[in-house]
Amino acid sequence: MRERTLFVSAIVGILLVAAGFAVATHVNLMPPEASTRAVAVDQLFHILLGISTVIFLLVEGALVFAVIRFRRRTGDDRPGPAIHGNTSLEILWTLIPAAIVVVIGIYSFQVLAAVEKPGPGPRIVEVTGRQFSWGFRYPEANVATTELHLPVGQPVVFEISSEDVIHSFWVPAFRAKRDATPGQISELSMTPIEIGQFPIRCAELCGAGHATMTSQVVVESPENFDAWLAQQVAMANDPGQIFLTMGCGACHTRTEVGAKGTIGPSLDELPNVAGSREAGLDAAAYVEQSIVTPDAFVVPGFPPGLMPKTFSQRLTPDQIQALVHYLLKQP
Ligand code: CUA
Repeated sequence: MRERTLFVSAIVGILLVAAGFAVATHVNLMPPEASTRAVAVDQLFHILLGISTVIFLLVEGALVFAVIRFRRRTGDDRPGPAIHGNTSLEILWTLIPAAIVVVIGIYSFQVLAAVEKPGPGPRIVEVTGRQFSWGFRYPEANVATTELHLPVGQPVVFEISSEDVIHSFWVPAFRAKRDATPGQISELSMTPIEIGQFPIRCAELCGAGHATMTSQVVVESPENFDAWLAQQVAMANDPGQIFLTMGCGACHTRTEVGAKGTIGPSLDELPNVAGSREAGLDAAAYVEQSIVTPDAFVVPGFPPGLMPKTFSQRLTPDQIQALVHYLLKQP
């Protein structure tokens, strides 16, 4: 009887262990593994989950088994046997978890050391949190952007800071999260390994707009990245390029850059009329508001609601100022 019980327990235990491994290795609810960090972190996570699942199933399995096998039968009112501990069992169930904890500790430390070490020749990207958007700067090209682009396979070190309160730069697909603290630069290194677009979140409650403090990282081929960066440089140095790249010319006429759009008002005459369009607004304020909140003032004869309302997110404040200055310059 005792042998049979032990045998059944062993079989059930082995089946539960197998089921635990299957669940831990085949059920994947994680975002894509888009960086070297993600691979190392997920491997650690899956091993921890596997160990936890096995222990959980063994403990709960033994419990359920004992509840059913040793339940009180009808009419059996005898007291249960008095048991006074088991020294060897207690030593065993102290030593095994202690060994597991030590092994997990050493392994976790190795993973941490490995993911924090920058790859060879990393590109620096400065990340700045502000209420409520992310800004990026590529010091190598001396340009600031509102969208994060990275070439696949090239190591990067983010230098993360904040202009106001504490934010947290979080790219789930990279398994990367670090606080953006005012007056302090925190580094975060990794290498993107998958081409695609992945969300960026703020993971620190930073005010009323916290939930909308999102952006995206575009991981692309090195050729596409170089082309994008060159375009950002061109836009930074030439507001006419901002005008064309942002698609303004599809709706507005601006003869000096060859834009012939007629859906919105022509901007050739803007320097002459901007100052007198709205009482109390000088020309620069009028043009800036017209870019940032397009429906604030609509020139009579043109339909409202057509101009995109996203330019304040797609352009840096410096780029908007450059564009305002450019549009008010006599062509
Ligand atoms: Cu920034 Cu939350």
